Amino acid sequence: MEKHYHIVTYGCQMNVHDSERIAGMLSELGYTSCDSMEDADIVVFNTCCIRENAENHAYGNIGMLKKLKAARRDMIIAVGGCMPQQIGKADILHKKFPYVDIIFGTHNLDRLKDYILAKRGRKKAVIEIQEKEGEVKEGEHPLRTSYPNAWINITYGCNNFCSYCIVPYVRGRERSRRSENVIAEARSLIADGYKELTLLGQNVNSYANGTDDIRFPEMLERIAAIDGKFRLRFMTSHPKDFSEELAKAIASNPKICRCVHLPVQSGSDRILKAMNRKYTSADYLKKIEILKKYVPDCAVTTDLIVGFPGETDEDFKDTLKLVKEVGFASAFTFVYSKREGTVAAEMPDQIPEEVSKARIMELVELVNSLTREHSAKYVGKTCEILCEGFDEKRGLFLGRDEFGRMGYFESDKNVIGEFVNLRVDEANGVSLMGKLV
Ligand code: 5AD
Ligand code: SF4
Repeated sequence: MEKHYHIVTYGCQMNVHDSERIAGMLSELGYTSCDSMEDADIVVFNTCCIRENAENHAYGNIGMLKKLKAARRDMIIAVGGCMPQQIGKADILHKKFPYVDIIFGTHNLDRLKDYILAKRGRKKAVIEIQEKEGEVKEGEHPLRTSYPNAWINITYGCNNFCSYCIVPYVRGRERSRRSENVIAEARSLIADGYKELTLLGQNVNSYANGTDDIRFPEMLERIAAIDGKFRLRFMTSHPKDFSEELAKAIASNPKICRCVHLPVQSGSDRILKAMNRKYTSADYLKKIEILKKYVPDCAVTTDLIVGFPGETDEDFKDTLKLVKEVGFASAFTFVYSKREGTVAAEMPDQIPEEVSKARIMELVELVNSLTREHSAKYVGKTCEILCEGFDEKRGLFLGRDEFGRMGYFESDKNVIGEFVNLRVDEANGVSLMGKLV
């Protein structure tokens, strides 16, 4: 009988790609994917812990499986990734959810296959967390699920220790893959028909720092030089490492998308210092100026946190001011979430929830108005969209242009994976509506 797996993924693109690596391992064990937990012989939760609500989501969903597991004792439940990698969390998870069969972290994700085989032969749960990051792994076979886009890890981990962030604790120190391996993977993905490559790292700009390998802008150039029509994206860039060379690389390679995600987090120098971001708002604006000098139409997006410990009304106003000044194409906005073990968790003057809520509402309103302004400029124009999917609810195809703007349209035939020209008739906030021309 055929066996099925279902993977539930929380968090960032790094996790989305890790789930593709997990899917690759499960398919090597003979499992095929299914859409619901009820039909699955193995359910894997690939978790996130960047904010408290990400953890609460996972807790809720793992909790819901108790009944299903009681009815189907042979079903395997595995919980892995960032959440169990936190010190002491695996034990907490085991106590809270004794019916979970396998618990693993980020550093031993590649061993899930062994854990499944081990679990088949025993009653006790398999709990294994590897404290330290290992060597960068090559030669894996992820089962990709995001055609026409393919994710490619270039670095793992982070050395920045922003004071609010748990990532360095659960993903370990920064390690870079060798450029020859990355470029070979890119080449083979293009040969396989992928139309968009997204290079992933917590801070792609510090790629290969301290090694004899090439730097990030050169890596982009070498990949962009591969034959064929495709788009090249990357995320995320830390502003402190964003260089003029990178701006030049974007400017001189039409395959590199004209959108850069450059998280600023705050517009207040006092808060940026407390966040350990290692730049001031003026430094950030300077980087934007350099980027725009070479790529004037580049869409810049960002991440923003409100309610960091000690954030005053003045600090928040500085954030609003900077957001207006840069005129971001869009932004992800977050309420600060206290993460145990980080430096900021120990800071005095944690901000009351109602204050943070009021601030985030004001910020979201501002960001939305900027996004609407950007979208409105598209009306009446034609843009090239890489079709990436079909929205069942709306009955429309969708895809993004080189600036990262999402467009929706009708089509008689399936155009997923094709470049199409869209004449934009309407702009609704973040998305565009139009007709193929
Ligand atoms: N609270 C709120 N937002 C956070 N981020 C990271 N850590 C936290 C936290 N503790 C946000 C940052 C980062 C994005 C991925 O998540 O804005 O850029
Ligand atoms: Fe977290 Fe800062 Fe590293 Fe980004 S750069 S992952 S925010 S510590």
